Amino acid sequence: MSANNHGRDLAALLEPLHQPFACKSLRASNRFCMAPMSRYFAPGGVLPPEGAEYYRRRAAAGIGTIITEGTGVAIDHTVAATTVPIFDGEEALAGWQRAIDAVHGEGGAFVPQLWHVGGCEDFNYPDDPHAPLVSPSGFAGPDVPGGRAMSDEDIADTAAAFAKSAAHAKRMGCDAIELHGAHGYIFDQFFWDATNRRTDRYGGPDIAARTAFAAEVIARCREAVGEDFAIIFRLSQWKTYDYEVKLARDPTELQSWLAPLIDAGVDIFHASQRRFWEPEFEGDARNLAGWVKAVSGKPVITVGSIGMDRDLMEDFVEGISSPLLNRLDELVAMYERGEFDLVALGRVLLADPDWLEKIEAGRIADLTPYDRSTALKQYEHG
Ligand SMILES: Cc1cc2nc3c(=O)[nH]c(=O)nc-3n(C[C@H](O)[C@H](O)[C@H](O)COP(=O)(O)O)c2cc1C
Repeated sequence: MSANNHGRDLAALLEPLHQPFACKSLRASNRFCMAPMSRYFAPGGVLPPEGAEYYRRRAAAGIGTIITEGTGVAIDHTVAATTVPIFDGEEALAGWQRAIDAVHGEGGAFVPQLWHVGGCEDFNYPDDPHAPLVSPSGFAGPDVPGGRAMSDEDIADTAAAFAKSAAHAKRMGCDAIELHGAHGYIFDQFFWDATNRRTDRYGGPDIAARTAFAAEVIARCREAVGEDFAIIFRLSQWKTYDYEVKLARDPTELQSWLAPLIDAGVDIFHASQRRFWEPEFEGDARNLAGWVKAVSGKPVITVGSIGMDRDLMEDFVEGISSPLLNRLDELVAMYERGEFDLVALGRVLLADPDWLEKIEAGRIADLTPYDRSTALKQYEHG
């Protein structure tokens, strides 16, 4: 195990991240979030009681904000697998209400991540039955056909579906919503010129033109939840079909990408990166979250291989990721320089609900390591 912090006082190191955070309706007791992670344990789209308990355990162990796994919105083509939970319909919402209440009971904030896959078949369950998919131009990746090209009516219906699920979230007492705009799904299929080949008002040669779909959905959600309810937008440069692509090649393009989203109503950006310590643009140490914050002035969430020695995609191949705690100094230094507001923890929390409490108590040897099979084990790790 490559924990290089033996003998170090991690509780003292991480103390600054225990400051509370507030943005509109989102009031968190500290800066730690659970990252959204799909589990595929919701038969028929209904999160089971074990799912509520799974989220409760992370909140009980000191995670201030729980961002849920991607959950489908109120339209049939939202996801491509039958075990992804849906944020619509009486039974599915009752499953979510249990989770919301359980997390609130532990003092945690609850944020559902609203997900529409666009033209992407499900990588984990490619044979699951699902409604015909839709996408901006019939592509899920540069040379990968996926979904039928969306009509204006499809676009309006999809925006309405996001707004309907957003309204459910507010009514049910959620603290914010997160729109999954990252990793090559519907919003990202519109952002990326390789998958958005439209010549109407939803397409165009520059990134600003290709934000029109996202801006429309955000504005509809804003109408549905009102001014005081926090809307988080997750974005990434990397996509499942291309880890190296850059939608924004420099800060100016980043500004063009973000400005329409802010005008439409985003309060917080969640900048998804595979390794949080990697600089986003040449000649400056800031990561994507740091740049998004600098360019937008909005609070940001950073993420990516915190407490891990391998990144997410390496893990999809094989092997065990062991805890790597020495980069936590860098994380705290970034926070103290004002480069991010919240930090999301993914695999470490999937493997071990008590990760934060254990490392702060110096119980490094007790940590449960993550391996690729962890995600497939149904709530085995609590
Ligand atoms: C099993 C698994 C499922 C994931 N599902 C989602 C998801 O539903 N939505 C999303 O935005 N990201 C998803 N991610 C990405 C994580 O939110 C996070 O960005 C990534 O794991 C990097 O953080 P980490 O290195 O701390 O794990 C998933 C990651 C894992 C490991």
